[in-house]
This record gives sequence, structure tokens and C-alpha cells, in this order.
Amino acid sequence: MLNLFVVCLFVVLGNCFAAIDIAQYVPVCDRNSPDVNDCLIDAVKKGIVAMKSGIKDLGVPAIDPYHQKELKMEYTNNQISGKVLVSDTYVEGVTESTVKDVRLRAEDDSFHMEIDMFSPQIFCKGRFSGSGSYNVLRVNASGDFNTTMSDLTYTWKLDGTPEQIDGETYVRITSFYMRPDVGNMVTHMTNENPDSKELTDLAIRITNENWRLLYREMLPFAQSNWNKIGTRIANKIFLKVPYNQLFPVKS
Ligand SMILES: *[C@@H]1O[C@H](CO)[C@@H](O)[C@H](O)[C@H]1NC(C)=O
Ligand SMILES: *[C@@H]1O[C@H](CO)[C@@H](O)[C@H](O)[C@H]1NC(C)=O
Repeated sequence: MLNLFVVCLFVVLGNCFAAIDIAQYVPVCDRNSPDVNDCLIDAVKKGIVAMKSGIKDLGVPAIDPYHQKELKMEYTNNQISGKVLVSDTYVEGVTESTVKDVRLRAEDDSFHMEIDMFSPQIFCKGRFSGSGSYNVLRVNASGDFNTTMSDLTYTWKLDGTPEQIDGETYVRITSFYMRPDVGNMVTHMTNENPDSKELTDLAIRITNENWRLLYREMLPFAQSNWNKIGTRIANKIFLKVPYNQLFPVKS
């Protein structure tokens, strides 16, 4: 229960990924060109903007705001435990990010890309319902929450494996990883259960005073959610556009 607020981390930023797309949407970068990195920075920038409202042709969902219908989470640590269902989460702000650098290692048998990002602000909001306990104390709550995070520095790391599909080579993205450094985080929450209202007010205060600690605790859950979302969305592009079209070798 104390950790309710962090659920929005589960979805924040996980909605985005390396936005390399076919020439219609973004510049295509020659894998072996000496300025492939500059080309990729530009391509990722444009890709993120192209995905803002989604790309219908590729089945890419809108990423800003990104909507996640439902997320369940269970947490146990010493005397604290909780079960939370978060629904209708919206995450905003990814398209206001700066792409700082891109590094690509595209081989015939492996694929790895790193994208350094900075986001001035990420806002997310949604509904939650859940129950938790601290020692013998039990509490039920449900309501709305929102969280504002500022000054986020992070690197998207995508790993993939080239794969033959119908005689063409595609890259299947197998992992999406990031570990954002967050400058500040503020959470608001309402509780529609009058019996536990005072308790949640207290919990929120404790949460906001200790967000760094809670963020660290919740990071593994968040990373698992980001991995699922990032991998799924990336493959909407990577499994539809052949490897040598996404990253051609011209030279
Ligand atoms: C919390 O809600 C659950 C499911 O709605 C219910 O089974 C349980 O008795 C409630 N607990 C308290 C302390 O109100
Ligand atoms: C965040 O939630 C609080 C409490 O419900 C609300 O007062 C505030 O307006 C919300 N902020 C935004 C930007 O929606």
C-alpha cells in the first residue's frame, strides 16, 4: 500500500523504444557509414515524433500519451505487503525528450543498440485499487493517482537476434532494458474508502519523503513491465521491416 504510487513507473517510459523506421517515416542510416551515429540520433528523434499518435500501418500504438489498460502487482517485503490493480494509466512526456546519443552494433548474427535519453518531465495518471498490510494493520483503498517525475536520464538498451522469415532476414528484439535516474518525483492520490482515508494521507506523505528508496525497491517490477512493452512495440517495426532496409549496408 505504501508503495502504490510507484506503479506508474511500471508504464512510464516503457512505452518507447528505438524508433528506427522505414524511410517514409524517418531517415534510414547506412550501418557502415562513418556518421552512422549522427544519422541515428536524427532518425530516433524523428521516429519518436512519428510514433506520438501511433503508426497505423505498422500497428504501433500511440506513445504520447501512452495508455496501459491494466497492470497487476504484488509486493512483499518483511512486514509490508500489498496487492494493487492499476487501470487506465496514461503516461505523457516522452516526445519532449532529447536524444543525446545512439550507439549501434549491427552484425550478421547479433544486434545491439543503445540510446541515451533525457526527459525534462514525465507525468502519469490512472486509477488504482488495492489492499495492503503492515504487520497486523490492514487497509483497502481505491481512487485516482498521478505522479510527476522530472529530469530523467536513461539509456534504452535493445538486444536482438537476426532471424529468417519467408526468406528475408529480420531482427527479433529479445530484450529492452533501462534504468532511469530520476531527478525528482511527486505523487498525488485520492482514496474513495473513507475508513482508510487518514492512513492513505499518511502513506502518501511517507511515500513522497522516501521516493528514492521506494523507487529502488520497485525498479525490478517496473523493468519487467518496460521489457515487455518495449520488446513488443519494437518488434512491430523490426519484424515488419527487413534488417537490410532498417540498417542497410551501402558501402
Ligand atoms: C478489502 O477488500 C477485499 C476485497 O474487496 C475484502 O475481501 C476484504 O475483506 C477487505 N478488507 C478490509 C480490511 O476492508
Ligand atoms: C493530481 O492529483 C491531485 C489529487 O487528486 C489533483 O488535485 C491534481 O489536480 C492532479 N494533477 C494533475 C496535473 O492532474
